[in-house]
Amino acid sequence: MSAGHDTAPDAFRPCGTAAPHETSDTRPAPAPVHDDPAEIVDVAGVALDDRALLHRHVFPAGLERPWVRTNMVTTIDGAVTRGGVSGPLGGPADHRLFDLLRRLADVVLIGAGTVRREGYGALRLDPTVAAWRSARGLAAQPAFAIVSGAARLAPDSAVFADAPRRPLVFVAADAPSARRAALDPVADVVVAGAHRVEIPALLAELDRRGLRRVHCEGGPTLLGALAAADAIDEMCVTLDATVLGGTGPRMVVSPGEHPRRMRMAGILRGRDALLLRWLRDRQPADGTRRR
Ligand SMILES: NC(=O)c1ccc[n+]([C@@H]2O[C@H](COP(=O)([O-])OP(=O)(O)OC[C@H]3O[C@@H](n4cnc5c(N)ncnc54)[C@H](OP(=O)(O)O)[C@@H]3O)[C@@H](O)[C@H]2O)c1
Repeated sequence: MSAGHDTAPDAFRPCGTAAPHETSDTRPAPAPVHDDPAEIVDVAGVALDDRALLHRHVFPAGLERPWVRTNMVTTIDGAVTRGGVSGPLGGPADHRLFDLLRRLADVVLIGAGTVRREGYGALRLDPTVAAWRSARGLAAQPAFAIVSGAARLAPDSAVFADAPRRPLVFVAADAPSARRAALDPVADVVVAGAHRVEIPALLAELDRRGLRRVHCEGGPTLLGALAAADAIDEMCVTLDATVLGGTGPRMVVSPGEHPRRMRMAGILRGRDALLLRWLRDRQPADGTRRR
């Protein structure tokens, strides 16, 4: 069985140990055909269990700066919402990978628009996963960092009230002081820019806190800011087998264009979705080298 959601102990290698990143192609034995709607197979049609999926998505070893991975789902025609939310997109395979990717992160980063629109609750991984993380030297629960330049978050919401770990909220210096003060008792409020949250300042703060495995779950405005700062290292993109139309946003929204070449690093397939992974190319679109 593939999606037997295996939690074998060697599925994760912490930073600092040799990790089979980028070129990893360790395939489990061929699995029998079964009827799991969350099944994910590789290009050869081999079903992957959780251990194999985690192995393919492990962060690079020995990170010396934050590594930003994003995870979004889009329709074939590029919409990231259906009826204003992302939940109807992606299906079981996407949801399975979404959960697994959280498991590998030091911090889950998200924009306030997504928290508000999707009605996010507290970030709390289940006890089995927390134990899995602890056994590998990770904090039992990842940190949860919300970007809200205007500090527009309800301090009494479940995001804070049920949090297993005090969330981080990144705000701009010109956010209303009353709203900032209201968040102080429930979150670490960090000013990371004068009028907006500046991505370099945000990443410097995550780095200072030792949160280098950054897993960003959107949304488009935050990804736009990350793209503008040329700060996206990796994109996990689920392509949902739907043509939707409408006027929903695309994955990255920003006032200007910020071309960045990415190279294909992984192709997996769910029942009705492609699960793609892209890594930043050292060569930006204009041909000059930046990093
Ligand atoms: N398909 C998917 O995988 C996926 C994933 C995530 C979200 N979504 C969808 O995306 C939609 C939300 O889009 P969105 O663009 O509003 O989401 P967003 O990026 O999560 O939120 C935008 C908000 O985040 C804050 N923000 C982001 N970057 C900032 C910066 N550099 N400086 C200051 N504040 C910053 C601002 O909050 P304040 O207004 O509080 O200042 C801004 O209004 C929802 O409908 C959601 O369902 C889809």
